Amino acid sequence: MAIKTVGVVGGGLMGSGIAQTAAQAGYDVLLAEVNQELLDRGMRRVHGAWEMLSGKGRITADQAAEYRGRIRGTLELNEFADRDLVIEAIVENLDAKRALFRTLDEIVPAGRILASNTSSLPIIEMAAVTQRQDRVAGLHFFNPAPVMKLVEIVRTILTSEETVSELREFATTLGKTPVVAKDTAGFIVNFLLIPYMLSAIRMYENGLATMRDIDSGMKLGCGYPMGPFELLDYVGLDTTLYAAEQIYKENPDPANAPPTLLRRMVQAGRYGKKNGKGFYNLDETSGAR
Ligand code: 3HC
Repeated sequence: MAIKTVGVVGGGLMGSGIAQTAAQAGYDVLLAEVNQELLDRGMRRVHGAWEMLSGKGRITADQAAEYRGRIRGTLELNEFADRDLVIEAIVENLDAKRALFRTLDEIVPAGRILASNTSSLPIIEMAAVTQRQDRVAGLHFFNPAPVMKLVEIVRTILTSEETVSELREFATTLGKTPVVAKDTAGFIVNFLLIPYMLSAIRMYENGLATMRDIDSGMKLGCGYPMGPFELLDYVGLDTTLYAAEQIYKENPDPANAPPTLLRRMVQAGRYGKKNGKGFYNLDETSGAR
């Protein structure tokens, strides 16, 4: 069936970016949050992005108004009864995600697709609580979702071929390139990216080079848009630690083991760009070295 209406649960950085992308591509989008303050914040982020794009002349004022008309916020998941596709982008907590999938399974008509944007949790654990295990898959976007061109479609052992092909079509209409991954921790990109970022932390921890030099090395030596420490701050240290723990659980290779410094940063409440305190403004004369 053709997807026309999209529901996004979670108005954080990823959820609002996904909702923005879908509205820009012409879908009717409903964005859900758990309280008014978080919903307002998510909607403000989406509207702010369109103001930024129209300020830069990338879109016209008419286009911005058209996009705004395609997205609506709600606090009521019951409103998802008319959604063709629902994408979950809530906190990375399996119990919370399973509870949400159970609720969505009761509200969203049978046969419609339920997808998760999780970075590293097993999709099958969410599918297992529904009565539509063939219609559940991962749909993993990259930060910033409106800009990054990739979407990973995660196929569980029970996801149907039809679901994968409808999600491929959906991702393509968003202007993204879909790739299909098995339901294993890290999928494709994080399975490679997380140990790379952990290695950079270990290099720094072991005093082999400064953060800035490690970042310059990868930017100028390999043409990466950000060095590993800039990327860690950008993606979030809590998010990286959590993903590393999931990947390590399934693949207990030392390269996937979170370094102590990453744990200490998270324990110190330094999550990166999201709270303005990450590796980059760590006082380099402090005990971090
Ligand atoms: N909506 C639409 N467009 C947006 C946007 C938004 N919300 N935010 C930024 N843009 C556009 C800007 O308008 C700009 O377009 P222009 O070139 O036409 O003016 C373009 O994106 C680039 O933005 P900026 O000029 O502000 O910034 P940079 O040129 O420095 O690029 C970056 C920023 C795209 C983030 C780049 O540094 C980059 O690609 N970094 C690497 C990001 C990355 O690796 N992400 C993946 C992380 S891993 C992940 O997400 C997985 C998770 O599970 C952990």
